[in-house]
Amino acid sequence: MSYQVILPAAGQGKRMGAGINKLFLELNNMPVLIHTLLVFDEDKDCDGMILAVNPEEQDQIKSLLDQYKINKQVIFAQGGAERQQSVYNGLKAVTNSGLVLVHDAARPFITKEMIKMLTEAAERDGAAIVAVPVKDTVKKVAGDHVVETIERSSLWAVQTPQAFRVSVLLEAHKKAEMEGFLGTDDASLVERIPHPVAVVPGDYNNIKLTTQEDLVFAEAILKTRTK
Ligand code: CTP
Ligand code: MG
Repeated sequence: MSYQVILPAAGQGKRMGAGINKLFLELNNMPVLIHTLLVFDEDKDCDGMILAVNPEEQDQIKSLLDQYKINKQVIFAQGGAERQQSVYNGLKAVTNSGLVLVHDAARPFITKEMIKMLTEAAERDGAAIVAVPVKDTVKKVAGDHVVETIERSSLWAVQTPQAFRVSVLLEAHKKAEMEGFLGTDDASLVERIPHPVAVVPGDYNNIKLTTQEDLVFAEAILKTRTK
């Protein structure tokens, strides 16, 4: 099913510590942002992209879109102080009434297969996420002591993309804004409506580039791919 995708791209990359928005860092001589956009540009079901950006970076991003020949329509929205606001600004620019995906521009290793499974689930259930079972044992810690060990078998690490019926995501963001709720992903806003969220298997390679060592993993993942 066709969809539009919102890509929050207005962060500062503080944990990466590169002194610039990490989306401009290059992997195989191509900016991270472009690696991510190309997956959507090449997906026939993608009806266009909405990029939430820092206004002072918009021109630089526009020239990258030209340089790397991104064909699909790209709409710019203004980035907000928090990721959630960037997504909400992007959501207000959505023009179709079907499905919308939200995908962190800092996750360049998504695949068309993953997108397909996700959109099928969202078409059926109204909201769907990709996630992978947690590999480490997870403990709740206070100060420097363990409070408790959380049963691992039901814990999943959540990734993007996340897919929603446009009406569902709009309702979720409106409610969150009204109630001053700030979540770390979009599904958590949808859960609060409340509305069920389906889970489809993600991929351990679908990492978010967050800290310096992720760049090393990213180079290794790229080597295993023939893009
Ligand atoms: N993002 C955004 N608007 C913000 C904050 C983040 O659009 N106000 C985007 C980032 O550009 C990134 C995605 O949301 O594509 C996930 O955020 P994160 O990995 O936290 O990136 P940064 O916020 O840039 O990194 P940091 O938190 O280390 O500063
Ligand atoms: Mg951040």
